[in-house]
Amino acid sequence: MAKHKIALIPGDGIGKEVLPEGVRVLEAAGRRFGFQLEFTDFDWSCDRFAKTGKMMPDDGMETLKQYESIFLGAVGWPGVPDHVSLWGLLIPIRRGFQQYVNLRPVRLFEGLKSPLADRKPGDIDYFIVRENNEGEYSSVGGRLYEGTEYEMAMQQAVFTRRGCDRVMRYAFELAKTRKKHVTSATKSNGIIHTMPYWDERFAAIKAAYPDVRTDQYHIDILTAHFVQHPDWFDVVVGSNLFGDILSDLGPAIAGSLGVAPSANINPERDFPSMFEPVHGSAPDIAGQGIANPIGQIWSGAMMLEHLGHADAAAAVVSAIERVVADPAGRTRDLGGRATTASCGAAIAAAIG
Ligand SMILES: NC(=O)c1ccc[n+]([C@@H]2O[C@H](COP(=O)([O-])OP(=O)(O)OC[C@H]3O[C@@H](n4cnc5c(N)ncnc54)[C@H](O)[C@@H]3O)[C@@H](O)[C@H]2O)c1
Repeated sequence: MAKHKIALIPGDGIGKEVLPEGVRVLEAAGRRFGFQLEFTDFDWSCDRFAKTGKMMPDDGMETLKQYESIFLGAVGWPGVPDHVSLWGLLIPIRRGFQQYVNLRPVRLFEGLKSPLADRKPGDIDYFIVRENNEGEYSSVGGRLYEGTEYEMAMQQAVFTRRGCDRVMRYAFELAKTRKKHVTSATKSNGIIHTMPYWDERFAAIKAAYPDVRTDQYHIDILTAHFVQHPDWFDVVVGSNLFGDILSDLGPAIAGSLGVAPSANINPERDFPSMFEPVHGSAPDIAGQGIANPIGQIWSGAMMLEHLGHADAAAAVVSAIERVVADPAGRTRDLGGRATTASCGAAIAAAIG
């Protein structure tokens, strides 16, 4: 029987509520499809930061290396600045483990209502491939003349050939398994060094994929197209910042941020990959047991696919589809009254 070692990092807020539901569903999938998951819990979080001054221990990355995958809830809590929690835990993992693809599916499920008029399942079904290691989110920069009237802050964007090419190639390979269409998010009219370079690399990579249709839009009009023409998209590739913004917009259009999953993938498998919902720790609803666990559970399905259990992953997604099709299975963000636990239990039961 296949056995996989998984590191669990619930994190903060609703991360601690939705992660156990993800585990419940993964265990149900393991029982049905005949594999075992061995979980180890890590309390790395803002709570830990408050006690020790560190989001994770100094040897945290070494520890995580021993696991096949990381299953994470959400990180961030009032009292700890968001850039401290993000750069203290998530970003070191994404970068240290070369998880350079942040893959975020967007799909409208049967029974869920899109805030866009007259959109039905099938109209909204695409992937966002976000560059996850460089771009606008860099630690290069600083402040000068602090505390004076000449005070200034600078932040350097970093676009390397290796970084652009590998994430674009991933997008084209993914498109080959779907509708064979890749859209690039750019802004080469306003950002005149890095974005023309991004376009240049996109043109170079697409030359190797003559059977994949391509287009590119500046990020401003692209956000409008996401709302007006969601059916235009199949695979959308963007830089770290553009991909981040698009992957909150996409799920909002598909009904709720609470259902959106994501995978931080190291395609070469030199290091563990990490699977987490798109949403954050939601302090406004934390502790009430009403958070939607589907983003976490669908992220678990992406992890199963990565671990080589495509049939189990498909069964989890199908169980999600069946549960949300029934109003009784929906949490408050989807207009229902289900709790985090009852929704998770229903999905686990639907796996059989
Ligand atoms: N990957 C991550 O861990 C991650 C991602 C985004 C934000 N954050 C952090 O989370 C904290 C809160 O950030 P935010 O408020 O901007 O974003 P958020 O995603 O936590 O919440 C945004 C809104 O969506 C709602 N929401 C989010 N997830 C939901 C779910 N599963 N079910 C129902 N409703 C849900 C929240 O109640 C809130 O109204 C901050 O500290 C931020 O830095 C972490």
